[in-house]
Amino acid sequence: MSYTLVGHRGVAGHYPENTPVSVQAAIDMGLRWIEVDVQPTKDNILVICHDHKIDRCSNGQGRVDELTYEQLCQHDFGSWFDPRFADQTIITLSQLLSLAASWQLRLNLEIKIDRHDPRLVVELLTQQLSESPLAPEHVLLSSFNHDVIRYAEQLCPNYKLGVLTERLTNKDRKLLDQVDAFSCHVNYRWLTERHLTELQRAGRQVWCYTVNQPETFKLLDQVDGVFSDFPERFYSA
Ligand code: G3P
Ligand code: MG
Repeated sequence: MSYTLVGHRGVAGHYPENTPVSVQAAIDMGLRWIEVDVQPTKDNILVICHDHKIDRCSNGQGRVDELTYEQLCQHDFGSWFDPRFADQTIITLSQLLSLAASWQLRLNLEIKIDRHDPRLVVELLTQQLSESPLAPEHVLLSSFNHDVIRYAEQLCPNYKLGVLTERLTNKDRKLLDQVDAFSCHVNYRWLTERHLTELQRAGRQVWCYTVNQPETFKLLDQVDGVFSDFPERFYSA
């Protein structure tokens, strides 16, 4: 395998996404990298959750940024996927960083911003990272939000940065150069050979989301990383 295989939201194809059991499954499978989504609660605790609302992936309702961490802890984030995961609660970034450090697991932290001030969120992130035992080289910070990436370059200079986009645009190109990004994360459906070559010649790694059918992705052996909900499918690809 020539690329980095990244468990998407842990191992989201088989476990409730972004929960402790999903992260542990990635560790148990021997994956070196996972991607998770990070966002702030009402009381500015960074938690691991993809949607801006908790309705789809918990037994609760409401916006993450309108609920306190304590309120979020009242909900079950697992039984929507399968009743056997009813014990899964939301996990904080701080808890995840400790878990990852104890297993040498590498993390791609995708920072999701909705109504919060991007600078504040990056300050919270910087604080968490500085308190974490996880080595900076085991972390890759990414976001669709360009302000987040710019603030991360200023406030977290020791961390790798990934510019996240659906397909490569001129704004992405500018940002990649401006922050000297480690990587560009693109939707595999829109990745062209021309963009791949351009990015790699410029010294960027190209990581593609979310590839769940390896046989359908023609550029698989040329890219540097793939995110998958079903990482086991790549062992025989
Ligand atoms: O970070 C890669 C991928 O997760 C981006 O899209 O919506 O799955 O967070 P999304
Ligand atoms: Mg994501």
